[in-house]
Amino acid sequence: MPFTITIDGPAAAGKGTVSKAVAAHFGFAHLDTGLLYRAVGAKVLTGAEPIAAAQTLQPTDLENPDLRTQTVAQEASKVAVIAEVRSALTDFQRNFAAQGPGSVLDGRDIGTVICPNADVKLFVTASAETRADRRYKELKERGADVTSEGVLEDVIARDTRDRERATAPLIAAEDAVTIDTSGMTIEEAVAAAIAAINAKRG
Ligand code: CDP
Repeated sequence: MPFTITIDGPAAAGKGTVSKAVAAHFGFAHLDTGLLYRAVGAKVLTGAEPIAAAQTLQPTDLENPDLRTQTVAQEASKVAVIAEVRSALTDFQRNFAAQGPGSVLDGRDIGTVICPNADVKLFVTASAETRADRRYKELKERGADVTSEGVLEDVIARDTRDRERATAPLIAAEDAVTIDTSGMTIEEAVAAAIAAINAKRG
């Protein structure tokens, strides 16, 4: 059985950076599942119907350079509420997790719904202000026209939508190890994640 690591958590908690580093450390494949929802959201913004967009999603849709914008992030969290959108994306995620020797998947419902039998589950979080601050810097570096207040609003709106939805809400799995990265550098967050994984691997 391939080794599966799930990393869930709220918006801009650093899941992407931690997941990539963890995958590189263990030589595992990494899937940013948020990109799937962002790609569906981007198609909806150009007029597609959400369920059809999810059912016909192509690998090239994930290469859209606009996927990291706040507009697409908001739309992603709106389409992510739709149960049929989520189910259309389930097989792709589970097939990804089935590859050897192991994989790291990050998102919102990976440890709870997509891979409930994962070997290690992490829940990576931080205060809303810390997360918004990190995302603001990231977007600014990309040249985006954003304000720190706007980014904080975006993060809070998405968290609320993600936590309150009926299907696959954002919540830590019962057996997840929570890592609060509020006071940590990225190196410390990565080290904490690797330590938690090694502790579970035995
Ligand atoms: O990078 P960030 O944490 O800001 O967001 P993301 O992981 O790219 O996810 C964008 C949106 O997709 C989230 O706000 C969720 O609404 C949705 N999503 C989800 O519902 N389930 C997942 N497994 C991943 C993302």
